[in-house]
Amino acid sequence: MPSATPGGMPVPRQPAHLAIVMDGNGRWAQQRRRPRMIGHRAGARAVNRTIDFCLERGIAVLTLFAFSSENWGRPQDEVDALMKLFLAALDREVDELERRNVRVCFIGERARFSPGIAQRMARAEQRTSGNRAMTLNIAASYGGRQDIALAARRLAEQVAAGTLLPEQVDEQRLGRHMALADLPPPDLFIRTGGDTRISNFLLWQLAYTELWFTDVLWPDVDAATLQQALDAFAQRERRYGLTSAQVAPPATETVSP
Ligand code: FPP
Repeated sequence: MPSATPGGMPVPRQPAHLAIVMDGNGRWAQQRRRPRMIGHRAGARAVNRTIDFCLERGIAVLTLFAFSSENWGRPQDEVDALMKLFLAALDREVDELERRNVRVCFIGERARFSPGIAQRMARAEQRTSGNRAMTLNIAASYGGRQDIALAARRLAEQVAAGTLLPEQVDEQRLGRHMALADLPPPDLFIRTGGDTRISNFLLWQLAYTELWFTDVLWPDVDAATLQQALDAFAQRERRYGLTSAQVAPPATETVSP
């Protein structure tokens, strides 16, 4: 079914912004009787395949949930090993992102990472800031509720300083202080690994995002899985709270030769 934005513009059938919860690394490793970390390493390879897929399809923004605020509570050896993996990936992949013309940005509580990781994140952002083929957002130590709470705190500070009136607090102002405020919200959300939850990812930004779930475990994700998600997206009618008739694009006139 066709669809349109609230402003009446037809919506492209391909997402411009894809957001993914990459779940299933641990189970993928368990199925092979290997340590969970082997699953995370295979997950990092799936990240690369996904970047390539998005570049090939011209998807402008990819946002990945790499580490949630809650993931700090995992067994310490898994957290330590994940940090090592992130560090190695940051060292290894920046040249590759640069070559592929991908800009990388991190969202989440950076102060919780070691100075070494935080520094490399900042360096990766600086080095790739001019790249235009795609923006890759990596959510690390990120939580959707925390994102909303921090934005509310920013506005509360302005009210306390007397630069904002309480009645001026509205969706637009709050949204401007949220992560990814400079980008269009995700069009399509994918979660792998069989669970059908959002798990505190981008709660504000996903308000009108199409959701797609698959049992495929993240390390097994390939172009065919991602294409399935895109095909499902192309079939969706996005109404943004309006009716089908309201969002239907105007009938195009056919001119006989
Ligand atoms: C969820 O699987 C995955 C994570 C908590 C970590 C995600 C990390 C990667 C995909 C690797 C590298 C990423 C980057 C950006 C370099 P899980 O451990 O919860 O799996 P399970 O549900 O099967 O236990």
